Amino acid sequence: MTDSVKYYIEKNKERHIEELVSWLKIPSISTLSEYAADVCDAASWVRDKLEVIGFPVAELIQGGGHPLVYAEWLGQDDQPTLLIYGHYDVQPVDPLEEWRNGPFEPTIENNNIFARGATDDKGQIMVVLAALEAWAKSEGSPPINIKVILEGEEEAGGEFIARYVTDYPQRLEADAALICDTHMNSIERPSIINGLRGILYTEIAVSGPKTDLHSGSYGGVAPNPIHAICLLIARLKGEDGRINIPGIYNAPVNITPEEKAFWQENEGVIEERLLQEMGVKKLVGESEFLPQERLSVRPTLEIHGIRGGFTGEGGKTVIPAEALAKVSLRLPAGMQSDQVFDMFEKAVVDNMVDGYKVEVRNLHGGEGVSVSPNNSFIGAASIAIESNYGVKPVFMREGGSIPIAALFDTVLDIPVVLMGFGLPDDGAHGPNEKFSLTQFDKGIMTVADYLGLLRR
Ligand code: BES
Ligand code: MN
Ligand code: MN
Repeated sequence: MTDSVKYYIEKNKERHIEELVSWLKIPSISTLSEYAADVCDAASWVRDKLEVIGFPVAELIQGGGHPLVYAEWLGQDDQPTLLIYGHYDVQPVDPLEEWRNGPFEPTIENNNIFARGATDDKGQIMVVLAALEAWAKSEGSPPINIKVILEGEEEAGGEFIARYVTDYPQRLEADAALICDTHMNSIERPSIINGLRGILYTEIAVSGPKTDLHSGSYGGVAPNPIHAICLLIARLKGEDGRINIPGIYNAPVNITPEEKAFWQENEGVIEERLLQEMGVKKLVGESEFLPQERLSVRPTLEIHGIRGGFTGEGGKTVIPAEALAKVSLRLPAGMQSDQVFDMFEKAVVDNMVDGYKVEVRNLHGGEGVSVSPNNSFIGAASIAIESNYGVKPVFMREGGSIPIAALFDTVLDIPVVLMGFGLPDDGAHGPNEKFSLTQFDKGIMTVADYLGLLRR
């Protein structure tokens, strides 16, 4: 990076934070339909920002769910093209009462910025935008060709962008993709992500009696859908963490010996950190696998919520007519979520106790990805991190999912660089989500460096 780019970044630090604050104030919750207009506002906000940075093309693409934001700055025929992805939508905010300040009233405390979307993903997009702006305003243009695609429904499954990438791969053609939407271990031990899990999100609806019943008059003979769901879930996943779905463990294992050695050598540290972060005394799950392995490459089955019956104040003696469970599975790279849905549906039917009507719905799915670190785009990321953090990054897998990463890999057939600046205690999706301002600054410098390193 040139001195003037660096100088620009330092000089405009405060303003970049102020801009992030304005963007974070827009409640772009993609999974709740009443926020649709806000999601659109957040899209327009960032489109305008891209235009101000100087992108000759900066537009909203309508035609699916929430709009895509697309921008390009091309024209340097001798330079590579980098496709930059991010998502401007955010997760819902409940439990609202646990936020120290409103989720959409960004506040700065202890060198962190707190708000929904601070780390996931508006803050990390802003890191990239600030780096691009610094190049554009101090050198006249980015050092390489840039395409930007931002979506507004990543947290809701990302259907529109998946369709767009499949239908218009030539529009997104590039030499590599950069995604800043992940974590690193810590500032002292930065990492680059070399794998993400896929996901299948489902809903199980169970019905029993034709109406809610008095539990005194019918208790003892009435089928209870909530109890049926509990029995079902217990059959689908044992106390040992084992998932009872035939075929669920059939994915090819592609962990390198180096990765496994790292997990082994750091088992104690990793476990301690996890206990600390979660505030629990014991880890659960498949004890024959290392915690880091369980977290990042093993399939999981988690139950997110059960709805039904009575949960209000006081007591109400009712046997519910129906119940609903939200269940998702995380999938290793190489498993197709649609195929897993078929396996899951069959397992639910096979394990459901008799006497109920059950319906299994596929809400959304996305594939995992495993990236080979042996390419020049990841090599450059490694150099950029080393020069800004003072140590070489380690390669780590992430247990979360970014469905579009797999499509960039398979449809566009380009290396995917997962260089994120989140920290493990950022609390993404939870109350008091934050982004470290140290990471914000370091991230901008690192990305600015990275863009410069990609110049031929
Ligand atoms: N940025 C996350 C993915 C992620 C999770 C990265 C954990 C690093 C650590 C992304 O926004 C996300 O939350 N994805 C969802 C995808 C789903 C809703 C399809 C996820 O993983 O639950
Ligand atoms: Mn994200
Ligand atoms: Mn997220």
